[in-house]
Amino acid sequence: MYLMNEIVRDGNKVLRERATKVEFPLSDEVKEVSKNMMEYLVVSQNEEENEKYGLRPGVGLAAPQVGVSQQFASILIPSDDVEELQEKPENDDEYYFKGTIYNPVITRQSVKQGALSMGEGCLSVDDDLPGYVNRAYKITVKFQNEQGEQQELRLSGYPAIVFQHEIDHLHGGLYYDHINKKDPWNQTDNTRYLG
Ligand code: NI
Repeated sequence: MYLMNEIVRDGNKVLRERATKVEFPLSDEVKEVSKNMMEYLVVSQNEEENEKYGLRPGVGLAAPQVGVSQQFASILIPSDDVEELQEKPENDDEYYFKGTIYNPVITRQSVKQGALSMGEGCLSVDDDLPGYVNRAYKITVKFQNEQGEQQELRLSGYPAIVFQHEIDHLHGGLYYDHINKKDPWNQTDNTRYLG
């Protein structure tokens, strides 16, 4: 499992690079990184355990955030965080989504926007930068799973935001790039504010 001191922070150029595609079959190194990233997320969401290890809670961690410039990210979204009843991609009561996505591509996105009412945070950004992070409200994402099989998911609301945040990391993006610098809390009619 990774610890906070192994997570790359803003200012390191790996966070601003476009990561390379992951090759299949997965190398042992990529498998190990994936396992350690998911372990971080699971432990970070456990209130007793995260205190023990000093972990900031997270729902996603992308490979560049641990210094690996390849296109994959682990995502762990608790079902309780997903307000709207929507079709769950997995038969898991505890999690709306648990998995590592490889070479993800957003193939469709809605004109309608979504943003978290509290703004976003990132394990690589120590200061919380305030403001709405406008993203597509609905997306279709294609990616490969650990076996290299192509998957497709349609997501909306919070899960769509989490996936977009992580996919940004694979192209050198950080959440605050999307904040309106002049008026960070400016609301627009076309945006749904969540949570
Ligand atoms: Ni992040």
